[in-house]
Amino acid sequence: MLFVPLLALSYLLGSIPAAAWVARARGIDIRRVGSGNSGATNVLRSVGKGPAIAVAVFDIVKGALAVLLGRAAGLDDPQAALCGAAAVIGHNFSPFLGFRGGKGVATTFGTLVVLSPAAGLGMAVIGLLTVALTRLVSAGSILGGVTAALVAWVTGQPLWLSLIVTALVALMVWQHRENITRLRAGNERRLGDKT
Ligand code: G3P
Repeated sequence: MLFVPLLALSYLLGSIPAAAWVARARGIDIRRVGSGNSGATNVLRSVGKGPAIAVAVFDIVKGALAVLLGRAAGLDDPQAALCGAAAVIGHNFSPFLGFRGGKGVATTFGTLVVLSPAAGLGMAVIGLLTVALTRLVSAGSILGGVTAALVAWVTGQPLWLSLIVTALVALMVWQHRENITRLRAGNERRLGDKT
């Protein structure tokens, strides 16, 4: 009975556009600078390090909190996982941004950390390693996400969990389609690039 209201609440929680609002507080329209993405990487590029860390942490917490709230309210594990997914969808398609939003990397990560710590760890290790080696956050996000899905499948998680993790990662990769075009063309922005 609580499932649908909690799903809606999770969507609303995820839809809080921290990146856009933090940038706006500095007089910057995040959609018009850098990559145009409402996410921590673009805040780092266009606003600064402190605000970017704050946005990343907030976006991670949104995903984790949605799952934890669902569990605390007595939902079963698949339903609580769907609350996490709703937070990611809220982040990517926010009513506060005309149903546009970010790419869901941090919020997916927050969800994974609670749902499958092994998948979350895989995402963090491969993602951070990729960024350290290439300074390409988009590549780190994609490779980290794919790693998380693989970890979910090979560590004997329940089928529903592997499917939800895979769906979240597929959505995340789809949200990076413009980055993928730039990566293929060799003109993707690297960490430290200001434009
Ligand atoms: O978190 C999104 C990141 O993977 C790419 O961000 O701004 O370079 O498109 P951006």
